[in-house]
Amino acid sequence: MYIRDLTRDDTDVIHQLARLLVEGFADHWPDAWPTLEAALEEIDQSFGGDRISRVAVDAGGEALGWIGGQYTYGKVWELHPLIVRRDRQRQGIGRALVADLEAQVRQRGGLTLMLGTDDEDGMTTLAGVDLYDDPCRHITTIRNLRGHPYEFYQKVGFTIVGVIPDANGPGKPDILMAKRVG
Ligand SMILES: CC(C)(COP(=O)(O)OP(=O)(O)OC[C@H]1O[C@@H](n2cnc3c(N)ncnc32)[C@H](O)[C@@H]1OP(=O)(O)O)[C@@H](O)C(=O)NCCC(=O)NCCS
Repeated sequence: MYIRDLTRDDTDVIHQLARLLVEGFADHWPDAWPTLEAALEEIDQSFGGDRISRVAVDAGGEALGWIGGQYTYGKVWELHPLIVRRDRQRQGIGRALVADLEAQVRQRGGLTLMLGTDDEDGMTTLAGVDLYDDPCRHITTIRNLRGHPYEFYQKVGFTIVGVIPDANGPGKPDILMAKRVG
């Protein structure tokens, strides 16, 4: 496995990644990329200015995963999106893609890598409750009920720095996470 820039010329790999996005997000985030067209559009946008687009491929050139980065403001970059092929998950590819993006952001002078990871269907204890009453308490007592990726991000060094209540509808928050990369 190695990680390299994804470019517009990677037609086959781009189509493989679009399928990974649709399949990988369908169960828990069905509105993310409901169609191949939506996923292809997302990938196309990753070639814009102030963007980073990196793909993990195997020895045969098949796509194993993809990570994107976008400059937001100040010294802050956003990680968006991240996907690892289902049959290759839990083998360190996600961790390697995040480390690679961190190096890319560092090279560009970034100090903070942030992301939002939604809970739309009760995967964590942050869903289905009123976060406004005491958001910090809810964050510090979070529990992972059904394999939500926030725990993956914690394992690769991110901290939960906030929540956006009702980001995806009542009781469906966005969990904000950040990591120092500078
Ligand atoms: C989340 C995702 C990117 C993780 O990639 P991965 O290659 O499976 O992760 P890694 O193998 O590098 O895992 C690194 C660590 O996180 C842990 N981990 C991975 N996914 C996890 C999850 N959903 N919940 C809890 N821990 C998790 C691994 O067990 C490993 O722990 P260890 O270091 O103690 O052994 C991958 O599962 C995926 O593509 N999921 C579908 C799309 C998605 O959720 N994207 C993120 C949305 S914001």
